[in-house]
Amino acid sequence: MRTRKAGPDRRAPGAGAGTGIPLELSLPKASFTSEAEFRRERDAILFTDWFCVGRSAGLAAAGDYITADVAGESIIVVRGDGGALKGFYNLCRHRGSRLVPPEDCEPAAVRPGPSGCFAGSIRCPYHAWTYGLDGTLRSAPFLPDLRGHRAALSLHSVDVDTWGGFVFARLEPAAGPSLSETLGGIPARVAAYQLSALRTGARLRYQVAANWKVVLENYNECYHCGPVHPELCELVPEFARAGGDVDWESGVPHRDGAYTFTATGTTSRLPFPGLSEPERTRHFGELVLPNLMISLSADHVAAFTVWPESAGRTTVVCDFLFHPDEMAKPDFDPGDAVTFWDMVNRQDWLICERVQDGMTSRRFTAGYLAPMEEPSADVGRYVAARLDIDWQSTGAITEEGLAHDATQSRFCG
Ligand code: FES
Ligand SMILES: [Fe+2]
Repeated sequence: MRTRKAGPDRRAPGAGAGTGIPLELSLPKASFTSEAEFRRERDAILFTDWFCVGRSAGLAAAGDYITADVAGESIIVVRGDGGALKGFYNLCRHRGSRLVPPEDCEPAAVRPGPSGCFAGSIRCPYHAWTYGLDGTLRSAPFLPDLRGHRAALSLHSVDVDTWGGFVFARLEPAAGPSLSETLGGIPARVAAYQLSALRTGARLRYQVAANWKVVLENYNECYHCGPVHPELCELVPEFARAGGDVDWESGVPHRDGAYTFTATGTTSRLPFPGLSEPERTRHFGELVLPNLMISLSADHVAAFTVWPESAGRTTVVCDFLFHPDEMAKPDFDPGDAVTFWDMVNRQDWLICERVQDGMTSRRFTAGYLAPMEEPSADVGRYVAARLDIDWQSTGAITEEGLAHDATQSRFCG
C-alpha cells in the first residue's frame, strides 16, 4: 500500500485470460502454497537476486560482522581488513560446521541473525580451522600439508554491496546485474532522505503465516486500506478514496495539520534536513524486490525486510530509521511512530494470513487484481519472469473455476 504506482495501465494482453472478466489474474495457487514452488523461488530469485540482509551501521570496523538467514541459507557479512565488506556462507570448509552458530541468539531473533566482531580472523568452533577476514584459510591445526591449498579451501563467497545504509547479499555470485542496475531510479527518488546516514532507533519483528509474495503484494496496494486500516485512512484520507488508487509519484498527502505516520500525525522530531516541501508533508514509498519495503515520512523511515521461510511462513523485520541528531537528544523517543506502525502492521499481517489460509482451499486456483492493484501485479510479473510462468495467458474459466492448464504443468507441487 505504500509504494509508487507502477505507471500507466500495463495489463497484459491476456488480462482476464479470455474470460471477459476485465481483471488481471494473480499468480496461481501453487505459487503461494507449494513448497516445491518455494524451492524454485529460492534458486531463481532469493539466491540469485540482491537480497537485503540488514543495515551497515554495525559494520564499522574490521571484523564487525552480521549474519543472516536467506531462505534457509545462513551467511556472514564481515568488514574486511581493507575496509570492504565481504560475504561468505556460514559454513566451514572442513566438515561443514556453522562458523557462527545460529543458536547463539534468541530463536525469535534468528532473522536477520546474530552479529558481533571477529578478532582478526574467523575461527571454526569445531576443529579450529581459522580463516582470514577475506575468507582464505589461514591455518588448520596439525595439517601442515594444507598450506599450499589455502585459497582452494577459502570460505564459499557471497556477493555483497550496499546502498542507503542497507546491506544486500547475492548468494549466487555474479548471477546477474549489479545492485546499482537493480535499484534503477530508486536511489535518485529518495536521495533527499540520506538513508545511509540514518540509524535504527527501534525494531519490530513479526512471524507472519503467509507467503512472502502475499506480504509484498499487500504492501504494494492500498485498495485494502479502507476496510483494513481505519486509523491510517483517518490520517491519510486519500487511502480510502478512489479505492486506494494513489498517486505515489507525487507523494501521498496527510489530513490537514498532519505530516507523519503517528497517531496524531505530528511528532516532536524535526524533519530530515534537506527535504523538499512535498517530502516534508507527504508520504512516499518504495519496494526493492525481492525483500525490502521502504516507507518514508518526514522524520522517520520504516524499513521492512521480508524473510521468506517457507511457502506459508515469512518473518518481517521493521526497522525504524531516524536522523542521528534526533537520536542523540536526551528525550528521543521513537514510540509515537513505533506504536502507530505496529498497529498498521498487525492489521496487514492478519489480513495476509487470512489470504494465505483462504488460498489453501481446493476451490482457489488464482485470484484477480483490480486496476488499483496494478503495482501488486509487478510482484507477479517479477516472479513469473524469473520462473518462466506464463501466468496471464494460460488461465481459463471452467465450471470448476479458473484452471491454469499449461501453468499447472510447470509447477512442481
Ligand atoms: S568443521 Fe570446522 S574445523 Fe572442523
Ligand atoms: Fe496495509
